[in-house]
Amino acid sequence: MALQNSSTEYGLLSKILHWLMALIIITLIGVGIYMAELPRDTEEQKAYAFQFYGLHKSFGVLVMLLVVTRLLWLRVSPAPALPAVFAAGERKMVKGLHAILYVLMLLLPLSGYLMSNAGGYPIHFFGLGELPALIGKSKEFGEIAHEAHEVMGIAMLLLIVLHAAGAVKHRLKDKGGESDILKRML
Ligand code: HEM
Ligand code: HEM
Repeated sequence: MALQNSSTEYGLLSKILHWLMALIIITLIGVGIYMAELPRDTEEQKAYAFQFYGLHKSFGVLVMLLVVTRLLWLRVSPAPALPAVFAAGERKMVKGLHAILYVLMLLLPLSGYLMSNAGGYPIHFFGLGELPALIGKSKEFGEIAHEAHEVMGIAMLLLIVLHAAGAVKHRLKDKGGESDILKRML
């Protein structure tokens, strides 16, 4: 299988990036919601919760690096056009949804990063060291970034469901046919 995308098929690198990031992002949303609800009254509870925070932040920063790689790769190797059987309206919807997903893949980790900076909390990238704060401590900004992170997280979950449902719909309606775009990504 070719590394590059062709005019009708996604290549290996786009497929790896798509499915690896899908796995990480869906896990991050689940873990994010779980960890934010954890009690932290005792030292033990705090230590338990902060383990998840550390992993969530590292994988979140990894998403940031991967999405930049993915967007650069799209410039080198453009995505295949949608098959001609897609109506103009549907084409616009699919493209619009992809664009929103890219924006969320950038803004979600960025809001998480700035929220941690504003709260004065460190961000470690796995065991490799602490990352620099981009902004100083600010309670007000931290609250706004937190709210944005939460709302965008829920919105992204809904859009992922919509996105996956579209792929499954075309598979069920037209398995192996021209509009079955899931096969181009598998
Ligand atoms: C694509 C990447 C990411 C996704 C999908 C994601 C998703 C989520 C979600 C759904 C929550 C739960 C929201 C809530 O109930 O408050 C959450 C919480 C959190 N996220 Fe992320 N996140 C990402 C990246 C990051 C990054 C890069 C950081 C920091 C470097 C970060 C820091 C946090 C923190 C500190 C919380 C807990 C907030 C609290 O205590 O209420 N996240 N995340
Ligand atoms: C976190 C989860 C996901 C995100 C953020 C995501 C995002 C995206 C984006 C941005 C594209 C456009 C790629 C490009 O042309 O640049 C894409 C393509 C695609 N995704 Fe996802 N995706 C996710 C999960 C899934 C799941 C669970 C499925 C299937 C069940 C799926 C099926 C597809 C298919 C079939 C395409 C190719 C569409 C085409 O042929 O033009 N995705 N995805």
